[in-house]
Amino acid sequence: MAGKALRTRQVVAAASLLWLLLLPWPWASAVHRSDFPVSFLFGTATSSYQIEGAYLEDNKSLSNWDVFTHVPGRIKDGSTGNIADDHYHRYEEDIELMHSLGTDAYRFSISWARILPTEGRFGGVNQLGIEFYNKLIDSLLFKAYYFLLEHAGIEPFVTLSHYDIPQELEDRYGAWLSAEVQRDFGYFADVCFAAFGDRVRYWATFNEPNVAVLAGYMLGTYPPARCSPPFGSCAGGDSEAEPYAATHNVILSHATAVEIYRRKYQSKQKGSIGIVMYTTWYEPLTDTPEDRLATERALAFTVSWFLDPIVYGDYPPEMRRLLGSRLPTFSPEERRKLGYKLDFIGINHYTTLYAMDCMFSSGCPLGQWTQNALAAGTGERDGVPIGPPTGRSMFYVVPDGIEKMVTYIMKRYNNLPMFITENGYPQVEEGHTNAQEWLHDQARIQYLDGYLTKVAKVIRDGADVRGYFVWSLLDNFEWLYGYTLRYGLYYVDYQTLERKPKSSALWYKRFLQSLHEDQ
Ligand code: NOJ
Repeated sequence: MAGKALRTRQVVAAASLLWLLLLPWPWASAVHRSDFPVSFLFGTATSSYQIEGAYLEDNKSLSNWDVFTHVPGRIKDGSTGNIADDHYHRYEEDIELMHSLGTDAYRFSISWARILPTEGRFGGVNQLGIEFYNKLIDSLLFKAYYFLLEHAGIEPFVTLSHYDIPQELEDRYGAWLSAEVQRDFGYFADVCFAAFGDRVRYWATFNEPNVAVLAGYMLGTYPPARCSPPFGSCAGGDSEAEPYAATHNVILSHATAVEIYRRKYQSKQKGSIGIVMYTTWYEPLTDTPEDRLATERALAFTVSWFLDPIVYGDYPPEMRRLLGSRLPTFSPEERRKLGYKLDFIGINHYTTLYAMDCMFSSGCPLGQWTQNALAAGTGERDGVPIGPPTGRSMFYVVPDGIEKMVTYIMKRYNNLPMFITENGYPQVEEGHTNAQEWLHDQARIQYLDGYLTKVAKVIRDGADVRGYFVWSLLDNFEWLYGYTLRYGLYYVDYQTLERKPKSSALWYKRFLQSLHEDQ
């Protein structure tokens, strides 16, 4: 490691320690690291578009999110990811923050448009893009030394596609709506396995493809902004059909990448490959058979929609019953491909909602993404919220939800290995007037403490959960909310791009060092 990089690390570590000492002593925790298995990975998570910036540097082409955010009115504060956290230039400083927390792993994603900027599998590989991720991975794995103490390297946990894809795929053939994308995604994955797989042991094909597809093709709120009434009014689209067509191609793109990994790389590189799903846990609004069935349908239509085909080779029966021929079928060749399955399930989990029946009851809100499941989500029962609200609408603090969600996935998929690939707490702009207020994030500490306690419990009860990642390392570009919502353990001053630890960073650091009292 070059002397300059080492010096940067030492300066950042010292500054970061100083900040931690200035912050008030936080929350005494009921959960300890020693409540988890020794090999359990604790980390933080980010994604390329949300933190990298450098949106046109070193031959990168435009992504779908670059184009989308440049359309006025799309993003709450009118912002873009052009600069974001400038992580592209500050990754060493950011790795230093991870070392100062004492995390074992770091979940990040690769910008497809940096690696293959033009013409997908027919264009060239951008060596400058490869170089950036090589430097990032090498710096993560490098062991750090402070005050003669050795810090182990940080395990890279890499997502191939976290919402952002090259815009040219969209322009050329409509991206996920065309079967063509399967081969392009396979090629992109192949390039990444070949370039980075000697050092990366955890690969996720997609991050939250359920959200990308529902927001992109049903609600029309994410690119490519396609939808039809009553979900929204978009320039084009069909909310009743396109989400299912796009999902079919996403699932088969996953299978294509896994087949390539299994055939060409896995035995040599010894890694594992999975997919990451967004998961809301649902509780029946009332204790009636109708609402209980609505709860099952809401889960099947949002989570099992992708996981059933990947694990069992077909869409969930709950969906087939309602959607009939609107749901595509897998050909024998496609079923063969699905046979490559996955090695782990990534669970992004933030909140729990009530589910109410819309099959027999009227008065359901129109346009929610569970509408085709004939179910609606709501945060309140008789005016009482399901848990303490956060600043983000429909996000409540319900720690039991993570235990129930993991248990559902464990039972439905035979206790396949699982990772909590995201869990975190949004702070909102309203009411915050200066950095100090953002830094004292006691609500986030309580949230993380509560959720981690339940993760420890579900592991004790037999769930094969192997890691946990806080969303996020840094405040960053939060999609439609721009920079108005902050999820970071580290505060980012968007004027100076300075990073400062919040109280939750100190809490996570202490948690990672903590032993159970009786040990
Ligand atoms: C899930 C997404 O994967 C991530 O990109 C997003 O920022 C967080 N949830 C918080 O909304």
